[in-house]
Amino acid sequence: MYLKKYTFAISTTALLLANLSLLPDRASAQNIPSLKDTFKKDFGIGTALNTAQIEERDPQMTAFIVRQFNMATPENIMKSALIHPKWDTYNFEMADKLVEFGKKHNIKINGHTLIWHSQLPPFIRGIKSADSIRTFFNDHIKTVAGRYDGKVLSWDVVNEALNEDGTMRKSVFLQYLGDDFVTEAFRLAQQAAPKTELYYNDYNNEQPKKRAGCIELVKKIKAAGVRIDGVGIQGHWHVGKVPLNDIEESILQYAALGVKVMFTELDIEVLPRNFQGADVGQRMTANEQSNPYTAGLPDSVQQQLAADYEALFKLFLKHKDKVTRVTFWGVNDADSWLNNWPIRGRTSYPLLFDRKNQPKPAFEKVIALKK
Ligand code: G3I
Repeated sequence: MYLKKYTFAISTTALLLANLSLLPDRASAQNIPSLKDTFKKDFGIGTALNTAQIEERDPQMTAFIVRQFNMATPENIMKSALIHPKWDTYNFEMADKLVEFGKKHNIKINGHTLIWHSQLPPFIRGIKSADSIRTFFNDHIKTVAGRYDGKVLSWDVVNEALNEDGTMRKSVFLQYLGDDFVTEAFRLAQQAAPKTELYYNDYNNEQPKKRAGCIELVKKIKAAGVRIDGVGIQGHWHVGKVPLNDIEESILQYAALGVKVMFTELDIEVLPRNFQGADVGQRMTANEQSNPYTAGLPDSVQQQLAADYEALFKLFLKHKDKVTRVTFWGVNDADSWLNNWPIRGRTSYPLLFDRKNQPKPAFEKVIALKK
């Protein structure tokens, strides 16, 4: 009996101490400057949110998100596999929670995403007729965009429809619905969600060939008399290789089409990778060199990361009349999808906040631009 009590007391104390050792860091994270306040006259500052964050499972995390960001994009829960799991079944539970989260905390929501070749519901694989794909396409856009009209600020109506050379990606939508599916998606979204801003979103679309394809898409949508309000450049870049000139050229060229420009999934990878971009279908095999920073990020890389973020935000500020939003793909380094892609179980450091929500040198540099 005594032994049991004693063991209980020790383990409770150990737990408390473990928690306390986290507390000072995480609590002090509330005393640092706020990104959204710092850039409030320039552009919105967003983050991707995962299920735990939307459900507010950790009050300190919620407080941190609310202090730093005024816009949010669901990392996964509005994708078709999750929101439309079966032919005639929708699951709006998490998306409704997200909308409530936004309302409660004054955070504007960007819906992500209506039409994407990836994370499709499994039943799509069984469909082999254009009519059935068309039915899915129409119903999905009408139902989802319609339900959240006036509740979300915007939708990524179509995501990643282009190849690197600017041609259309071979997706189930291109295969069955033809080249015009992008315009059709925007037409349906416009009808279902007249109060919602409608965007095209892609990665590497700051690269000249893909950008040219993206510009053609925007022109085609507009020529059909259909509304498109913005182009999202995802911004999954690599440390020391951020393509600043291409990014600036893209801001100018997209804005010249009369659409808003935004950076929608910003992160800067520090781990080795032999290709660029964010094609979730691409994978790499792990080897001895593929996870080099498990014990921490070397200072030289940390400083390069800070310099890259500084240069990027300098550029965003230079074009703040055209750039409406900068969204990070995750709140802190622990949340990042880059810990699991293109190799599972790595330790990456792509964001402005470390695993305890502490500001990194990159955060200081970005904030200093406004001092
Ligand atoms: O929820 C399941 C869990 O039940 C299961 O045990 C686990 C095992 O694999 O998988 C979990 O689902 C994962 C999901 O993220 C939630 O964590 C999927 O496997 C994984 O593929 C999925 O990855 C997401 C990826 O898109 C693929 O859709 C990333 O979180 C998300 O950050 C990423 O986001 C995309 C944007 O939507 C579009 N642009 C590129 C960007 C990065 O790939």
